[in-house]
Amino acid sequence: MTSKVSRSIVGLAGLGLASLLAVELFAGTSKTPALVPLPQKLEMRKGTFVLRPKTRIVVDAASRDTGDYLAQRLRHSTGFALPVVSDAKTKGDIVLGVAPQRAGLGEESYDLSVSPGSVVIEGGDSAGVFYGAQTLLQLVPVEVFSSTMTKGIKWSMPSVAIHDQPRFAWRGFMLDVSRHFFNKSEIKQMLDLMALHKLNTFHWHLTDDQGWRIEIKKYPRLTEVGAWRKSIGFKLDPKASRAYGPDGRYGGYYTQDDIREIVAYAKALHITIVPEIEMPGHSSAALAAYPELSCTGGPFSTDMSGGVFPGVYCAGNDETFNFLENVLSEVMELFPGKYIHIGGDEVPKQSWMNCEKCQARMKAEGLKTGRELESYFVRRIEKFLNSRGRRLIGWSEIREGGLAQNAAVMDWIGGAFEAASAGHDVVMTPTAYCYFDHYQSTNHATEPHAIGGFLPLNQVYAFDPIPADLEAQYRSHIIGAQANLWTEYVPSFKHVQYMAFPRLCAMAEVGWSPQQERNYDDFRRRLAVHCRRLDDLGVNYRKGIPDANAPKTIQLSGG
Ligand code: ACM
Ligand code: ZN
Repeated sequence: MTSKVSRSIVGLAGLGLASLLAVELFAGTSKTPALVPLPQKLEMRKGTFVLRPKTRIVVDAASRDTGDYLAQRLRHSTGFALPVVSDAKTKGDIVLGVAPQRAGLGEESYDLSVSPGSVVIEGGDSAGVFYGAQTLLQLVPVEVFSSTMTKGIKWSMPSVAIHDQPRFAWRGFMLDVSRHFFNKSEIKQMLDLMALHKLNTFHWHLTDDQGWRIEIKKYPRLTEVGAWRKSIGFKLDPKASRAYGPDGRYGGYYTQDDIREIVAYAKALHITIVPEIEMPGHSSAALAAYPELSCTGGPFSTDMSGGVFPGVYCAGNDETFNFLENVLSEVMELFPGKYIHIGGDEVPKQSWMNCEKCQARMKAEGLKTGRELESYFVRRIEKFLNSRGRRLIGWSEIREGGLAQNAAVMDWIGGAFEAASAGHDVVMTPTAYCYFDHYQSTNHATEPHAIGGFLPLNQVYAFDPIPADLEAQYRSHIIGAQANLWTEYVPSFKHVQYMAFPRLCAMAEVGWSPQQERNYDDFRRRLAVHCRRLDDLGVNYRKGIPDANAPKTIQLSGG
C-alpha cells in the first residue's frame, strides 16, 4: 500500500467507521517496511527477494562505490561476499545505476524496485543510488546492521516499488567539538549514522571560546595554546571524558591530515562538511593564542576561570582580517563545499565601543552602531569568501545591521521569514525544535545533566521547517533543517549518541519526507523496529521514549 492510501484510510477511521476497519488498517500498516526516513512513495508488491551467497551486485561506473559499500555492509552480517561486477545483468542480481535522464529522477532521488527475480536501484545521481542502497539495507532483517554474522536468518526483502527524493537539500547535524573534543573515529561513527538516516550535511563547530580544534599551519599557537584547557570545566567529572593530552591538559585538535581523511570519508557517504570558524565573537580560544587580535590585548583563556571572557576580535584592526583571511584560506583548502560557516552569534559589542581602532573604523566607514560594525565585519569576510567562489553562512545575528549580499542564514533565534523574503537562503535550526542539548524529559532526575530546555521526540517530529506565513514564492529559500548539538554538558561520545538518538531519526524525517505524509504514530511504529537497528549498531540512544518518567538506562561516564 502506498503511504498515501494508508493516510486516507486513517481519515476514514477517524470519521467513525467500524473498528474492524481500524484493525485491518493496523495489520496492513504493520506490514509496510519500517523505513526511516519515510520514502516519498512506496507500493507493496507480491513476493520476496532473497539474498543468497551467489547474488551479484551489478553496477555502472557511477554506482561502483555504492556497490562496494553495499557489499561491505552486507558482508559482516550475512557472511556473504557478494561480487560487485559491471557485467550485463542477469536474473537474481541487485542492479545499481545512475539514470539522470529518467523522468522524475532529480538530485539525490532514486527508484528502488524489489521483485522476486531482482533488485533494481536507479538514481538521479550517485547520491540517489547511495540512498537507494540505504533503503535496501532497511528492507532486509534488522540483523543486517550487526557487526557480526548472524546465522539462521533468511535474508529476504519484501517486493516493493519505491520512488524517493528528499524534501530539502540541506539535511544537517551540527556537532560542537569545541566544548568537548571528539576524536576522528568518533566523528566517522557519527557520519556513518548520518548516512543511515540520509542526512547530507555535517556542520562541524570547530572553534569557540573553550577550544580551537583545527590545525592552521600559519598560526601554530591556535592549536598549541587554543586547543587545550587546564581541566574539563563546566563542573563536570574529570573522568567523564578521555580527551586529555600527554601533558594532562584537556582538549585536542584535528591535524590537517585528519581533516582531509574525514572530509574524504564523508564524501564517500555523500555528506558535505560545513566547517564553522566562529567570528567575531566566541573567539576566546583564538585570542588566548593571539591576544593582539583583540581590542584589549588580552589576556584570554580557554578556561572559564581565566582572563576576559568571552573574546571578540577587534574590528578596527586590519591585522584581524589579514589573520582571518589566512585562516579561511587554509580552511577552504581542506573543505571543498560551497558553504563556509562564520558563526556570527552572540557578539558582545562592549569592547568595540571602548576601542580606539574600532571607533576609528566606525568613523571612517560611517557606521553608527555596534551592529553596523558587526555587519561591516561580516560583509568584509563575505567579500573574501565570495572572491574564492564560496558562500558565507552564519547564525541569525548576521542579519543585525544589514545582511551581507549573498549570505545564507542559519536561523536559531528568528529571522528566517525576513531573510527568505529578501531572497536569502535559510537553514532552519530553531531552538524550539532543533536544540538537541535540551532535556529529553521533564524529569531531570532520570536524565544526565543538560543545559536546560525540553525537547522530546514528538516535538522534533512536529517541526515543519517552512515558516507558516512565508509566501509561496519565497519557500524555495528555506533550503533545509538541521539539529544542533552543543556539548557544554555532553563530554563523551556515548553521551553525544544519547542526546542525538532517536531525536535525529525524527529530524531526518523532517528533512527528507513529504510533510503531508508524515504521521507521528506511524513514525513511532517504524522507530520501534529502527531502534533494533540502532541496537545492532551499538548506538547508545535514549530508550523509553517518549515517557517522561522512563528510568535512566545508560552509563555515560568514561567516554
Ligand atoms: C547559538 O546557539 N548560539 C547559535
Ligand atoms: Zn577594537
